[in-house]
Amino acid sequence: MNNPYTTLFGKVPMQIIPRAQQTALVTNTFAASSPSQQVYAITGVRGSGKTVFMTDVCQTLAQDRRWIVEELSVEQDLLQGLVAKLNSRKALARLISEAEIDLSFFGVGVRVKGTQPIVDLTVALERMLRVLEREHKRLLISIDEAVNNAHMRAFASTFQILVRKDLPVFLLMAGLYENIESLQNEKTLTFLYRAPKIRPEPLGIRSIAANYSQTFGIDRTRLSPRTASSPPTRIPMPSVRFFFVRGPAGVSVQFK
Ligand SMILES: Nc1ncnc2c1ncn2[C@@H]1O[C@H](COP(=O)(O)OP(=O)(O)O)[C@@H](O)[C@H]1O
Ligand SMILES: [Mg+2]
Repeated sequence: MNNPYTTLFGKVPMQIIPRAQQTALVTNTFAASSPSQQVYAITGVRGSGKTVFMTDVCQTLAQDRRWIVEELSVEQDLLQGLVAKLNSRKALARLISEAEIDLSFFGVGVRVKGTQPIVDLTVALERMLRVLEREHKRLLISIDEAVNNAHMRAFASTFQILVRKDLPVFLLMAGLYENIESLQNEKTLTFLYRAPKIRPEPLGIRSIAANYSQTFGIDRTRLSPRTASSPPTRIPMPSVRFFFVRGPAGVSVQFK
């Protein structure tokens, strides 16, 4: 049996143990009829669970048809990437062409007769977001490993304009403290300074136990966290033998 709780960095495990409160805070805030926040910055040291937490929030919202969730990379032109990604969604491409939004200047979509192609990415996104607004849809953008580079600054400055125009656009970005701090200290990106920060909290013992019990089909009453000094409990399983050890971060399962 493969370990469903893989600890490879950057790889989201098959089993996500919920940080239910923090996930609900973000999803409820974003999904509110008049959201009080349109951006959250997820910070913390390497391995603290930023990527997994962000993925969990994105997956939760993506289950709702009203949400369009796009993941962007800071290594590329974020704005151009976003325009292209949105236009590659079939249903959206149709609405964009119906609204006669000409994105041909960016090498996206087709030339619309009788209109000038849009040459400014902020304008293009504004027009596209108006279409989403009309359809009662919201756009969530997620950016992992956010750093203070030219792509990110250009993106954040456009995002700021779109939010000011009351468009249905939301941002989740995850990064190391120092990178998020450097970005929010940019004079032109003051909105980031006010953006609430989330630090993924340690996984709760109860959450872990509930997830182990479900994943391995073990009776919950048999799952009790042990201290490192007590002998490990071995529970024979059909194809896997494992025991619990309690470390500083909680309980971990070791596969034998
Ligand atoms: N909610 C979670 N459920 C299960 N495993 C998790 C969870 N959060 C973090 N992990 C484990 O910790 C590892 C590191 O988490 P990750 O989100 O990649 O950290 P970061 O992005 O902060 O560097 C993941 O690969 C995963 O194994
Ligand atoms: Mg990460």
